[in-house]
Amino acid sequence: MAETLDLLLDNATITAKIAELAREIESDYENESVVLVCILKGSIHFLSDLARHVRLDTRIDFIQASSYHDSKTSSGVVQIRKDLDINIEGQNVIICEDIVDTGTTINYLRSLLETRNPKTLRVAALLSKPSAHVVENSIDYLGFEIENEFVVGYGLDYAERYRNLPYIAILRGA
Ligand code: IMP
Repeated sequence: MAETLDLLLDNATITAKIAELAREIESDYENESVVLVCILKGSIHFLSDLARHVRLDTRIDFIQASSYHDSKTSSGVVQIRKDLDINIEGQNVIICEDIVDTGTTINYLRSLLETRNPKTLRVAALLSKPSAHVVENSIDYLGFEIENEFVVGYGLDYAERYRNLPYIAILRGA
């Protein structure tokens, strides 16, 4: 069966939601600075759009964790492939995650960054699949709740493809 893409969220819808999340973040951190942490690679577009909408003193850093290996199911094991450059001690940190599926990755990263004594540590996630969560997790700034479908685009990949799409689609037939 050939791969097909069914549009789930178009670019205008995503952009409008990210602008809303940015307003929430601005009101929570008024007159403070924030460090936005992009989880590579899937969160690149989310981070980039969010950072451009947030009117605060903002720094950006990158961390890479992997739990998926060219497949549609999680291995359940999180590895750090690239760590932060910024010392986050005493900083307001917001981890930006593309999608919370089982919740394993974000839980692991939250615990890891918590050990570095940030002033505050919150999570922004563009997408969440509540029915797939297997670990308790809290998302402070959430874009969209979606069904338990495999989605691609807007940074999300299937075997490194589709990250460039400006919209989010359900991948079928892969
Ligand atoms: P979790 O650790 O199970 O929550 O998985 C989080 C990571 O798995 C995300 O950051 C994505 O990289 C990847 N992932 C989970 N669901 C999807 C999906 O539907 N499409 C593409 N990647 C996904």
